[in-house]
Amino acid sequence: MIVGIIGSGAMGAGIAQVVATAGHTVRLLDQNTQALQRAGHSIQGSLTKLAEKGKLTAEAATAIFGRLQLTEDIHSFSDCELVLEAIVEDLPVKQQLFREVELLVSDTCILASNTSSLSIASIAAACQKPERFIGIHFFNPAPLMQLVEVIPAVQTRAGLAEEVRGLVQSWGKLPVLTKDTPGFIVNRVARPFYGEAIRVLEEGIADMATIDWAMTELGGFRMGPFALMDFIGHDVNYRVTESVFTSFFYDPRYKPSFTQKRLFEAGYYGRKSGRGFYSYADSATPPQP
Ligand code: NAI
Repeated sequence: MIVGIIGSGAMGAGIAQVVATAGHTVRLLDQNTQALQRAGHSIQGSLTKLAEKGKLTAEAATAIFGRLQLTEDIHSFSDCELVLEAIVEDLPVKQQLFREVELLVSDTCILASNTSSLSIASIAAACQKPERFIGIHFFNPAPLMQLVEVIPAVQTRAGLAEEVRGLVQSWGKLPVLTKDTPGFIVNRVARPFYGEAIRVLEEGIADMATIDWAMTELGGFRMGPFALMDFIGHDVNYRVTESVFTSFFYDPRYKPSFTQKRLFEAGYYGRKSGRGFYSYADSATPPQP
């Protein structure tokens, strides 16, 4: 199968690695040359590490990388059988992208979004053939996280969700079918987790490091809420919170926090920008509040 992935950031690069590892030819596109180059280095680095750990042979790592084509030319997507986007979490931008993609691909090409929170129906609505549209939502980092949410929209044709579920399973992942509602399963449950952690901080109940420590040591989470938000990126995470809040008709359970909004506005996106809740100026030392 030839799979086109649009957006080569944290998610697109990880998904490209998963799909190429599963044996498919992958075309990975970004509008930003540097992002594309970073993705190439990061995938190569990740495959090299897996080979060093003995989880892959060096030949397999080379073959996987060989199935990956980095491109800035959307026309190279004309023979794709599946196109999955992982670009900015912005509805009009995603809609416009699929309008353009649909002009290039065949009628049978499946179109999919990795959106965390936007309605799949609203992205599909921009397409001429919305019945071939579906949500395929990976978690970060995609090569490591097993769960993938598969989200049919009201327009999605009967049978496509099952087809995609089988495909995702063949990629070594654990697909879960979910309805097209804001945040689906995981991001909906996660909103109050982040929101409450920020409120605990704002109310002076404990500092960030203590909250993170408590949630990892005692709560059994792999990362505390502040470290996790910094890992996801506040550009992504704040937009998701705002989108879930507005999509639930301003239900106060999902209300965003000004603390996070200010980080977003300042460009303090977390690990990716060197500063978020914590500072990552020197990556050799643990994050400092
Ligand atoms: P990112 O900011 O790391 O990467 C996005 C990439 O898309 C950038 O390289 C950017 O240059 C590119 N891009 C933006 N507009 C484009 C366009 N019109 N055409 C081509 N390339 C374009 O973002 P990230 O974190 O990878 O998120 C991408 C999507 O995945 C978002 O919808 C987000 O909600 C979703 N997502 C994010 C997760 C996370 O933990 N960061 C987890 C699961 C889903």
